[in-house]
Amino acid sequence: MSISHSNALVFFGATGDLAYKKIFPALQAMAKRGHLNVPVIGVAKAGWNLDQLRARAHDSLEKHGGINPAAFEKLCGLLRYVDGDYKEPATFQSLRKELGSAQQPAHYLAIPPVLFGMVVEQLAKAGCTNGARVIIEKPFGHDLPSAQNLNQTLLGTFDEKTIFRIDHYLGKRPVHNMLFFRFANAFLEPFWNRNHIESVQITMAEDFGIQGRGAFYDQTGAIRDVVQNHLFQVLANLTMEPPVRTDSESIRDEKVKVLRAIPPLEPRNVVRGQFRGYRNENGVAPNSQVETFAALQLEIDSWRWRGVPFYIRAGKSLPVTCTEVLVQLHQPPTMYQGFDLKPNYCRFRISPDVTLAFGLNVLAPAEDSDESVELLASHHPGADEMDAYERVLGDAMAGDASLFAREDYVEEAWRIVDPVLKVGTPVYGYEPSSWGPREVEERVLPVGGWHNPTVAG
Ligand code: BG6
Repeated sequence: MSISHSNALVFFGATGDLAYKKIFPALQAMAKRGHLNVPVIGVAKAGWNLDQLRARAHDSLEKHGGINPAAFEKLCGLLRYVDGDYKEPATFQSLRKELGSAQQPAHYLAIPPVLFGMVVEQLAKAGCTNGARVIIEKPFGHDLPSAQNLNQTLLGTFDEKTIFRIDHYLGKRPVHNMLFFRFANAFLEPFWNRNHIESVQITMAEDFGIQGRGAFYDQTGAIRDVVQNHLFQVLANLTMEPPVRTDSESIRDEKVKVLRAIPPLEPRNVVRGQFRGYRNENGVAPNSQVETFAALQLEIDSWRWRGVPFYIRAGKSLPVTCTEVLVQLHQPPTMYQGFDLKPNYCRFRISPDVTLAFGLNVLAPAEDSDESVELLASHHPGADEMDAYERVLGDAMAGDASLFAREDYVEEAWRIVDPVLKVGTPVYGYEPSSWGPREVEERVLPVGGWHNPTVAG
């Protein structure tokens, strides 16, 4: 069920990293499309004034996507700034004043999760929460108990339908397209199950390190940063049952159901790695045991999927930046002896380009030989396509919850990864620009090996 459109956007953490890299570009894009017509109030404790925040927005846009003069002017006209400590009631009184008559503000907490409780409490005390919604960033909690506590805190003030948990992967069009592709076409469903599918691999590779985010990353690690949220969302889109309707609750019900069918991860099915040099990064402990790479195998214990191994791999400082899914079918039961036939597969690339491909065996031009070919549809996202942050912010303000994680989903996701996080399995070193530690090949290895995506120069 949708709620009404917000009539102000308040973003806490206005001078921070996320605002700089993602929020200002998303706001300018919304302004350009004519989707931003409400006051945008930045809040931070920096001793700044509004002109300084505008200058920061300018700088952010120069580095991330470029300035669009008309849209930037529009954004500057909507921008307001409240400076102050989140501990101080006065900060929130100033915010209340800035909100003026806006009765349905969206409060976007682009701040460290430890501050959520305090900010929510102060917002309530200052009368800023009636009719309001709250938008928060992943990871939602650190493990299952902390996610439940965070939820209690939020539910103390906000109703579940006014809490928007951002997982920006859900705002990526190709991630959404997995659902569309599955349920808008008739040919896939008959083979989309354990009878035909041999295994599934999901790889999220990044060819860069932690980019100065040591303090955050060393408290987080790859499993919490991208597996428990982004890659589980990809997994859920690939494997969920068709929703009975297309409203947000029906879709989210199916996602929760598929996670419920996943047993907790077994430590023996997980390999964690750390790239050499990580411990020299600012904010990282010299003896850090935090993983910058994880490879894991899990199962979905359902009628459709039982027995199909799902492999997930994510890492920093790998050879390429690419997120890709490979769904491999069983070997064909063929009478063509002497041919080197490969299992058919379906390949979805989420980034950097968007690709949908089917791997097939055909006769090669040379007599008595075969070759593998791909039927392929691919495109590079254009400058005018909506970025994930623009989409999720726009949807949160419009009150459409489809692209946001529901609490029961978040808790199921923690239930799956928690046992491994608690045990603290060994962390194996790997060379930057390699595909992770060699222990992966010994412990978490799909039949036929890992498919390592390549990206054209
Ligand atoms: C973020 C993670 O949520 O997603 C980062 O914190 C990661 O570590 C990023 O690099 C990847 O997102 P995108 O949209 O750049 O693929």
